[in-house]
Amino acid sequence: MPELGVNIDHVATVRQARRTNEPDPVWAAALAQLGGADGITVHLREDRRHISDRDVRILRETVTVKLNLEMACEPEIVEIACQVKPDQATLVPERREEVTTEGGLDIVAQHDRVARAIDRLRSAGISVSLFLDPDARQIEAAAGLRADAVELHTGQYALASGAAQQKELENLVRIGALVRQSGMSLHAGHGLTYRNVRPVAAIEAMHELNIGHSIVARAIMVGLESAVREMKRLVTV
Ligand code: PXP
Repeated sequence: MPELGVNIDHVATVRQARRTNEPDPVWAAALAQLGGADGITVHLREDRRHISDRDVRILRETVTVKLNLEMACEPEIVEIACQVKPDQATLVPERREEVTTEGGLDIVAQHDRVARAIDRLRSAGISVSLFLDPDARQIEAAAGLRADAVELHTGQYALASGAAQQKELENLVRIGALVRQSGMSLHAGHGLTYRNVRPVAAIEAMHELNIGHSIVARAIMVGLESAVREMKRLVTV
């Protein structure tokens, strides 16, 4: 039964639209926990477009479930993580012009940069997850880097439909097994919704799902605590 990590970046996106102090992602994290979230995920971007240093600091003090900090392999952000000490760091690619994280981190091409970030984070006692496309070469590289976990990018699965979606799912199952066989914990996320999450949650040994947009979108209609509770029910039955 996977754990549910709730990504609350979009709460900060609404706040930043007016550069004011509401809605506060710290409140959102508390409500998500009341709804049954097993983890809170935030992405501290280099451009600070949504989550701020202040958010991360206060979340570290107030979140009582797993705190997962997404970040690029940027030395400045890695140093902040080493001071704040989230329970887990998830390394993701980051480009300023993107709307959201668009693809997995290419750790074959960026091996040394990723290795430096992993070493630094692990020396601070932080568990490291790598956000990767479901591609065997990337998983082999992750095992070589001794990552603690791999978060498989489910964006292609989420975008596909019908037989094409089934094919994407089969690939996630196959690559998921490779992640486990390589001794790493299996996570997944991106583009997961109330409609498409169940087959991914059912993948053997799936340990953690990180879901943001769909939950925050529903929260606008039904409230965050209810939205999280509904998603939690879907991923655990
Ligand atoms: N996992 C990672 C590594 C991400 O970068 C994101 C998007 O911020 C998510 C999960 C959540 O994706 P979504 O908002 O589509 O649920």
